Amino acid sequence: YLYKRYWNIISLGIIFLFIYCCLLYFKTHAIEDQRRIENEYNSGKIIILSWRRPWGFSWLGHAEGQNIGNCILTYDRNLIREAAAVIFHYTALDNEVMPWKHYRNEKQYFIFWTMDGPSYMRNAEIRHPVKFDHSFINWTMTYRLNSDIFYPHLSMDMARTVFSRRKPYVDDIISKKSRLGLWVAQDSHFLLGSKLRLKYIDELVEAGLSIDRYGWCFGNTQAYKKLPLEVLDSYKFYFAFEDAKECIDYLTTEFWDQAVYKGRVPLVWGTSKATVESLVPSGSFIHTDDFKTPNELAAYLKYLDKNIAAYREYFKWVENPDEKTLKISKLYEQ
Ligand SMILES: *[C@@H]1O[C@H](CO)[C@@H](O)[C@H](O)[C@H]1NC(C)=O
Repeated sequence: YLYKRYWNIISLGIIFLFIYCCLLYFKTHAIEDQRRIENEYNSGKIIILSWRRPWGFSWLGHAEGQNIGNCILTYDRNLIREAAAVIFHYTALDNEVMPWKHYRNEKQYFIFWTMDGPSYMRNAEIRHPVKFDHSFINWTMTYRLNSDIFYPHLSMDMARTVFSRRKPYVDDIISKKSRLGLWVAQDSHFLLGSKLRLKYIDELVEAGLSIDRYGWCFGNTQAYKKLPLEVLDSYKFYFAFEDAKECIDYLTTEFWDQAVYKGRVPLVWGTSKATVESLVPSGSFIHTDDFKTPNELAAYLKYLDKNIAAYREYFKWVENPDEKTLKISKLYEQ
């Protein structure tokens, strides 16, 4: 009995020692990070404080201490006095511990950051950043062109890849095409836009269009993940349907990552054609607004499916970039 008791005490001791060592390890790391950032600050770097990572998830956002141009990014709130700007992702704005209550420097910029549209923020996240409107925010950083800082869903690295492709890429990708359309959707019931886009796709399928549908909506996320590259490359079109209707400048990874980057012609629904035209090369996409009915669009896609030369026209901006394309590329590459 006594032996058992001693053993309990010893194992408890070991556990505490282990936790203590872990804490010590992280603390020294944090202090090292802090020292390094302070050193950089003293040698002229500009500190940008990100108040909280998106949703507070440690795996989202840039790394602590990352250099971006002449700036250095930190999440260490102790550095608020040294920071030239403080970024608030919209998910950080509902917290009650906000710096303005006890601290505000008139030379410092508070920046509002979102990648999501208002419908998603309001209805899916139930967040109302509007209450921080009144002289809290100095600058916006969003996907909208008229933001103070344009922050699109196309990363710089991806933009450099996409805009440096030429004829050999087009020859290669076209030679792989055999299937018609792909759509991957995670939401089809929650937001109004998601319901409307689902209805439109259903009508295209009813019109006899071959669309392979994957994602959480269809209960086959795992099957999608297992698709081999040659199948993924074989789709001619990707249904880059956003989950919001008439949302200004809202072009997400649906358009850039899933369609353009992966060599599929994007079909756009939701964001108006005028908006899309101001954000992407001309002739790089098909807009549902150009068709009176889903039937009409289905007929056009079936025509393109049989006419590879007409289909290839949608890659003209890649093979032969015009002036507008070069201008657009600068928007994303810099
Ligand atoms: C940001 O806005 C606040 C509140 O309106 C203001 O006091 C501050 O001077 C502004 N910052 C800059 C750098 O203009």
